[in-house]
Amino acid sequence: MENILPPANKDANLRDYRQARQSFDWKEVEQEFSWHHTGKVNMAYEAIDRHADDPTRGQRFCLIYEDENRTEKITYHQMRDLSNKFANVLRKLGVEKGDRVSIFLPRCPEYYIAMVGCAKVGAIFCPLFEALMEVAVGERLTDSEANVLVTTPEMARRVPFIDRPYLRHIILVGAKNMALKSSEVSWEEEMARAPYDFDIEWVDLEDPLYLIYAFGSTGNPKGALHVHRDMVGYLITAQWVLDLRDDDVLWTTADPGWITGTVYGAFAPWLCGVENLVRGGRFDLEGWCRSIQSHRVTVWYTAPTVFQRLMGKGEELMKGYDLHSLRHILSVGEPLASEVVYWGRRVFGTPIHDTWWMTETGMIMIANYPSMPIKPGAIGKPLPGIVAAVVDPQGEELPPLTLGELAIKKGWPAMMRGIWHDEELYREYFSREPWYISGDVAYMDDDGYFYFQGREDDLIKVAGVMVGPTEIEEALKGHPAVADAGIISKPDPLRGNMIKAFIALKPGFFPTKRLKEELIEYMKKHFSPRIVPKEIEFRSNIPRSEEGTVIRRVLKAWELGLPA
Ligand code: PRX
Repeated sequence: MENILPPANKDANLRDYRQARQSFDWKEVEQEFSWHHTGKVNMAYEAIDRHADDPTRGQRFCLIYEDENRTEKITYHQMRDLSNKFANVLRKLGVEKGDRVSIFLPRCPEYYIAMVGCAKVGAIFCPLFEALMEVAVGERLTDSEANVLVTTPEMARRVPFIDRPYLRHIILVGAKNMALKSSEVSWEEEMARAPYDFDIEWVDLEDPLYLIYAFGSTGNPKGALHVHRDMVGYLITAQWVLDLRDDDVLWTTADPGWITGTVYGAFAPWLCGVENLVRGGRFDLEGWCRSIQSHRVTVWYTAPTVFQRLMGKGEELMKGYDLHSLRHILSVGEPLASEVVYWGRRVFGTPIHDTWWMTETGMIMIANYPSMPIKPGAIGKPLPGIVAAVVDPQGEELPPLTLGELAIKKGWPAMMRGIWHDEELYREYFSREPWYISGDVAYMDDDGYFYFQGREDDLIKVAGVMVGPTEIEEALKGHPAVADAGIISKPDPLRGNMIKAFIALKPGFFPTKRLKEELIEYMKKHFSPRIVPKEIEFRSNIPRSEEGTVIRRVLKAWELGLPA
């Protein structure tokens, strides 16, 4: 029998999924924004300034920042002033509407102030993940042609000096009293001097807001361009998926250098005017529990790897903390194993709600809603207003229980509006009208729940890092018994993705348990533990196309017992 968990909360913001789907109209969501009445558009205004003078919301903390050494609380009112100041700093440096400003900082309040300040001048901010190394930083600075970079003296060492023809100014956070080069200014000194008042640059809903890089399948970073209109999608997903209410404290654990942190760690909760926790520094189980306890976090948006660390050893430690404030918990980014969903229910009294989206989609697309039964293993159902389907290589919709590519009918508000400097790649996503092709492989069941099954481009995220299956297949073929090999990823009961190998043997070798063990030993000995298959299955042959590439969809169908 299929396992279904009853709804976690029938009184959620989204009470009746089916009805909301039927009557949904994006225009109704638009009415919640002040630009709907005034005609004046800017994300920074809707997210921050609009709340600043409200006697209640203005005094709430749009940012509760903490790490081992620093705690800082910034109200919406204060954020308006600080972002005004930063907007003035940018203006003084000559930044104009449409210019790119890269932010390469660790998680810290300045990151958030900078994002809002950029929006206020109409600049396009480019969030960079703090752990990027020199080559990656250089590629992103060059591709975006950023004029200004906000960073720290320490991280500036990872900014390559050559090849930065566009970069005019570097704003250094934490460089007070240091000797600066002519292109450098001190954040602290400039902010102290800058005026508190700033006239926001009113923009068009379609004007760019930020440019964020994701890893491409070829290894090159691709910059997804997002616009101010994204806010319509952020608001409704914050209300319906994150289920945010006025008195909530949200903690999205992602770094603002990745889109989950940019959107659901900042702008989405801000549009709702709720309190928002950001914890800096590394993962530290006790520190994390302490943060939830002391700030009474109510909604927690995190990732499968975090749950894995909490399960097992972490569970005992968690008992020392009062985590009862948590009322809604969500996951994103990698497969969420069924066991984790149940574990959440046992430990926190609420199952973990999986959500699915991409840098390119800009907002959550498919999710498990608190008022809807959960089928553990499913990523959920499309947000009302979103049409999702599983399609074949011609873009034809496939029937339920058939593997294909996950596609979304194009035209939702937070959809990327371009890949920076790569019009052709952008068009590829939309080559099968009317669909946006995600590149993820999935199937849908008879009730309309979707199930993620890996990537069409064959990349596998293992412990957060992408690996190509071909390198694993070639490695396996180095063993004398292996005639051919095909790799797929499949959800691991605990660890997100795991690697499964299908193997065809050379004549004279027989499919025994012993041979499986020998193959695993061989892989462990010669290659990185990350790419060692967890499971091996023998088959008489591996399906390959005329061009010789492994037809991975057939392997997946074998695995799931679906028609190949
Ligand atoms: O393969 C899917 C996986 O993460 C990819 C998107 O990565 P990125 O753009 O870095 O994501 C940012 C925001 C999530 C997708 O193409 N992915 C995302 N959500 C899930 C997932 N894989 C399994 N389960 C999910 N819930």
